[in-house]
Amino acid sequence: MEKLNIGIILGSTRQGRLSPQVGNWVKEIGDQRGDANYEIVDIADYNLPFYGEGTGNEPGLAAWSEKLSRLDGFVFIVQEYNHSITGALKNALDSARDEWNNKAAGIVSYGSTGGARAAEHLRGILGELLVADVRVHPTLSLYADFENFRTFKPAELHLQNVNAMLDQTIAWSGALKTLR
Ligand SMILES: Cc1cc2nc3c(=O)[nH]c(=O)nc-3n(C[C@H](O)[C@H](O)[C@H](O)COP(=O)(O)O)c2cc1C
Repeated sequence: MEKLNIGIILGSTRQGRLSPQVGNWVKEIGDQRGDANYEIVDIADYNLPFYGEGTGNEPGLAAWSEKLSRLDGFVFIVQEYNHSITGALKNALDSARDEWNNKAAGIVSYGSTGGARAAEHLRGILGELLVADVRVHPTLSLYADFENFRTFKPAELHLQNVNAMLDQTIAWSGALKTLR
């Protein structure tokens, strides 16, 4: 059977962002499992216009749609901004529709309280986009898992949670593929 394609979506586009460190860590864990094709999907690469403000013909929009279409499931790397997700991630979610439908997602979040409030906001949005978000949700603390709030040093316990989250994401991504 063909391996599933899982996109690890970096939710932050901020200069100096921490999200690549977290995304690469999840990808390394996924690659070690070898049970899917894991790839980093960086919203910043697509230069998406703010929804509704462009011509609709921007190359990044077509590339975004094409990339999502090729993915069977997602891991969202979510950072808490004012108790929610970033504007960049919301815009990226709004910038496609059918391409999200009937797929599964896991969430890895971070913030002062593990990014939990942002992740719960994301779950509501994913429901509208027909993305099935799995239960296990690794939450990383800016205080405990990042040295000087800058260098990612995840506590040991998170490895087990990431694997459990990936188990669920892979299972549901495979099941939902049969619907599409
Ligand atoms: C505009 C802004 C708002 C933020 N609001 C929150 C917040 O409400 N709760 C929280 O835990 N952290 C908050 N933070 C801290 C971020 O979670 C932290 O800076 C994190 O590193 C951002 O992710 P990034 O580095 O990948 O962009 C905020 C940061 C910014 C820049």
